Amino acid sequence: MNLPGRVNLLTRYAYLATLRGTESDVLNPGSGEESMRMRLQRILARAGLTSRREGEAWIQDGRVSVNGKVVTALGTQADPTVDRIAVDGKMINRLEPNVYFLLNKPTGYVSTCEDDLGRRTVLDLLRPIKYRLFPVGRLDWNTEGVLLLTNDGELAQRLLHPRFHIRRIYLAKVDGLPTSDTLAMMTRQGEASHPRGRRPSVRIHKVGERHAWLEIHLWEGQHHQVRRMCEAVGHPVKRLRRVQFAGLETMGMPPGYYRALAPAEVQALKRLARLDSSPKGA
Ligand code: URA
Repeated sequence: MNLPGRVNLLTRYAYLATLRGTESDVLNPGSGEESMRMRLQRILARAGLTSRREGEAWIQDGRVSVNGKVVTALGTQADPTVDRIAVDGKMINRLEPNVYFLLNKPTGYVSTCEDDLGRRTVLDLLRPIKYRLFPVGRLDWNTEGVLLLTNDGELAQRLLHPRFHIRRIYLAKVDGLPTSDTLAMMTRQGEASHPRGRRPSVRIHKVGERHAWLEIHLWEGQHHQVRRMCEAVGHPVKRLRRVQFAGLETMGMPPGYYRALAPAEVQALKRLARLDSSPKGA
């Protein structure tokens, strides 16, 4: 999809701002006193070459060398600003900064990187971005709304893990008018399917003549969860929109548009995922 020029320009500025923040973290490590040592698989992922897991396989297969020596031990660390790291004999000369984008996903796209059936994926909407992005979690083909995309695997993993209780808010247009008893039943059923998690909540957002919009808060993602919850009480979903994920919203962004997260938004995500290293109260 071609974005109209104005928004495209805004997106580009926001994007460059994000890169400035993250790239300087990666490429200019302070005074030169700080070490950039990290595990080799992380370096491979940050260079945009592969995922950490696949990087581990590359290391074990003897494809990675540090300063001319093949390394096969998985815990090995190196400093990409000092050490010569190569894959299959080819030097890695650059790390990818972590980048974070918020997309207002339209219906008609799958939220995976590739689709076996050849359908359009959300990555088609972010073609101008030359980083190896992946979506954080999934929205169904016919679900719209907030979707985070990044190349930061560690943050993504934590935001999706039930342990971190990340809130997702959905608006679901359902057939018929659910009673308060039905809403209570949906909450109880949701609770039963998350015995160790936080209680989901359901309330009426607005009503029409033969349908209602429900506001549903969930704290972990399960496949087709909202559709299943509504179907189970006899109110099938006609339209589904995620309006919030981890505090992020797409207000003012038409479907199909995306923007880079501001540094403060990235910090807020890291705080939620307990990856924030800044001192308490700072
Ligand atoms: N629940 C669903 O049923 N579908 C989605 O896309 C997201 C949550």
